[in-house]
Amino acid sequence: MKFFNFLTNDIAMDLGTANTLIYIKGKGIVLNEPSIVAFDRVTKKITKIGNEAKEILGREHGDIRVSRPMRDGVIADFEIAEGMIRAFIKKISSSTLSTRRIVIAVPSGVTEVEKRAVRDSAEHAGAKEVHLIFEPMAAAIGIGLDVGASVGNMVVDIGGGTTEIAVISLAGIVQVESVRIAGDEMNNAIMQFFKKNHNLLIGERTAEAIKCEVGSAVPLKEEITIQVKGRDLVGGIPKTTEVSSVEIREALTENVTQIVEAVKQTLERTPPELSADLLDRGIMLTGGGALLKGLDKRLKMETELPVHVAEDPLTAVVRGVGKAVENINEYSRVFIRKRSY
Ligand SMILES: Nc1ncnc2c1ncn2[C@@H]1O[C@H](COP(=O)(O)OP(=O)(O)OP(=O)(O)O)[C@@H](O)[C@H]1O
Ligand SMILES: [Mg+2]
Repeated sequence: MKFFNFLTNDIAMDLGTANTLIYIKGKGIVLNEPSIVAFDRVTKKITKIGNEAKEILGREHGDIRVSRPMRDGVIADFEIAEGMIRAFIKKISSSTLSTRRIVIAVPSGVTEVEKRAVRDSAEHAGAKEVHLIFEPMAAAIGIGLDVGASVGNMVVDIGGGTTEIAVISLAGIVQVESVRIAGDEMNNAIMQFFKKNHNLLIGERTAEAIKCEVGSAVPLKEEITIQVKGRDLVGGIPKTTEVSSVEIREALTENVTQIVEAVKQTLERTPPELSADLLDRGIMLTGGGALLKGLDKRLKMETELPVHVAEDPLTAVVRGVGKAVENINEYSRVFIRKRSY
């Protein structure tokens, strides 16, 4: 039985800056973990991946390094990314496979060199056939939009590394903007805010937790106060500070505005017939950043269009790539065409 599974093991992958998700044809989503690895500094051997590696992020010592090989949505550290892909694939299958097709989602802003790096990593990790698909296209398919229709749809996918804004029609991307401002930048903004305003050093994980818990893009009905623990910049000792959601919103405001401006810019560049479609259909938000409190409201206010947060926005892309892997022939027209080198 295992043998048959093995032969039909086509997989889909959302190799995200923050999270990696894998979908196996006929099975659905089988893996959803942070894109993080811990490895031995000397031997470079990977000792932990995903959730287990995230646990120790910021707590590592001299012999181990914890790394996020994806930055800004693309592979920043080739060797480690390849190891990570290999380790994730190994985790979902008991045998190392030699024949499999992989469809991988990549940000629309990637360069030819970056695409090459993703293809090579997947091939080195055992894939025989690699197809790439643009993230916003995958997200649109994932949330059930009819991407082949002659009607315009706008998808805004806010991930860890990039925000991708795309207008899709007739199975193609008509207009796209990819900005390297998303969840990671927001975490950074929160860390900087504490350093500057509270003389407090906090780690990336803490900043992310604060963002998810109290971060917002518009005033909240009830503003929240939280206790934040970190290291005092002056005394060097552990310290607790109290902050309100108002301050955190202030810290995020620049990034949120940049995302809003990028959406507006894409709207300005959209051909009029498609703009008209958007008036009725509105904007679909996907990716983890779509969960930032009030971001939909803020976008609605600024664009005067209907804005919807997709159901389960964190899995939209992998569900889309999954559909493509279930029907490779039908969806091959939305794959990125391979250039000859
Ligand atoms: N409730 C929330 N509020 C705000 N941000 C959130 C929330 N939940 C998750 N996020 C953020 O969403 C981001 C992860 O989203 P996602 O998994 O879609 O990114 P990714 O696909 O890995 O990245 P990319 O597409 O840029 O490569 C992280 O930065 C995370 O902090
Ligand atoms: Mg993503």
